[in-house]
Amino acid sequence: MMFTAFYSLAARPFAKDIKAEEMYLSSSHQELLARLNYLKHSRGIGMVVGEPGSGKTSGLRTFVVSLNPSLYRVAYFPLSTVTVTDFYRGLAFSLGLEPAFRKVDLFNQIQEAIQNNYSGKKVVPVIILDELQLASTKFFSDLHLLFNFSMDSENPFVLVLCGMPALAIKMSLTHNQPLNQRLIMRYKMAPLTKEETKNYLENHMRLAGSNYPIFSDTAVEAIATVSRGWPRLINNLATTSLIFGCQKLLKYIDEEAVRQAAVELGM
Ligand SMILES: Nc1ncnc2c1ncn2[C@@H]1O[C@H](COP(=O)(O)OP(=O)(O)O)[C@@H](O)[C@H]1O
Ligand SMILES: [Mg+2]
Repeated sequence: MMFTAFYSLAARPFAKDIKAEEMYLSSSHQELLARLNYLKHSRGIGMVVGEPGSGKTSGLRTFVVSLNPSLYRVAYFPLSTVTVTDFYRGLAFSLGLEPAFRKVDLFNQIQEAIQNNYSGKKVVPVIILDELQLASTKFFSDLHLLFNFSMDSENPFVLVLCGMPALAIKMSLTHNQPLNQRLIMRYKMAPLTKEETKNYLENHMRLAGSNYPIFSDTAVEAIATVSRGWPRLINNLATTSLIFGCQKLLKYIDEEAVRQAAVELGM
């Protein structure tokens, strides 16, 4: 029997594809959105770092959905799946260009298009580079060159650099100072507090159509402790606990079920 049926849930809770408007508004999530909105208004380069599964990409998605498409053109590139060359070409395409073959030409093309979009149509490109902890020093210095519009008083673009905490460490190295010094916004994701973890679980269970509090207080406490408040770990623990609870025919998920789930997940 599926745990969704056993617990009379209309949908699988803790699935990855949560809608932007159904996101849980943790203090970190709200702070991230506030910082991104600041960046949107001032334009320029910002950096978002956080542990894996801390809600960076989800937060960026919420931000993107909130943008007026007639004023902002979003281009999102996760470096886990996109090469640096793909990024330059993809960026050119997203600006409506036919990418030039040589990198210097491509850079000139991109810069011109960004400038023209801004001074002409008043469209601001919002470029998001995710999983950027994977990038090389060469790429950081290229970004510095590509997004250097120093002749102008105001930046005609928004660039969000996002990645794991290693990104912030890389950025602080001496040879990355040219780019580092241009960051006008930095944010590090914080974990959910115990109270927030409880509300987060409730939010997801309610969205899945749960009609009674399936997780006991001690179970919630255990999930908060083991996950240390990181959303993806909460999702994994909660789902595995539900599967375990269903196998054992538990009406309520207790602390023991969460412990079993943690062992199963190697946490
Ligand atoms: N504020 C939130 N509300 C609801 N779910 C969230 C929230 N933040 C993160 N999640 C969940 O946690 C998972 C991991 O988040 P994600 O944004 O992919 O983390 P990161 O990009 O930092 O690795 C997502 O799939 C999503 O289901
Ligand atoms: Mg991510």
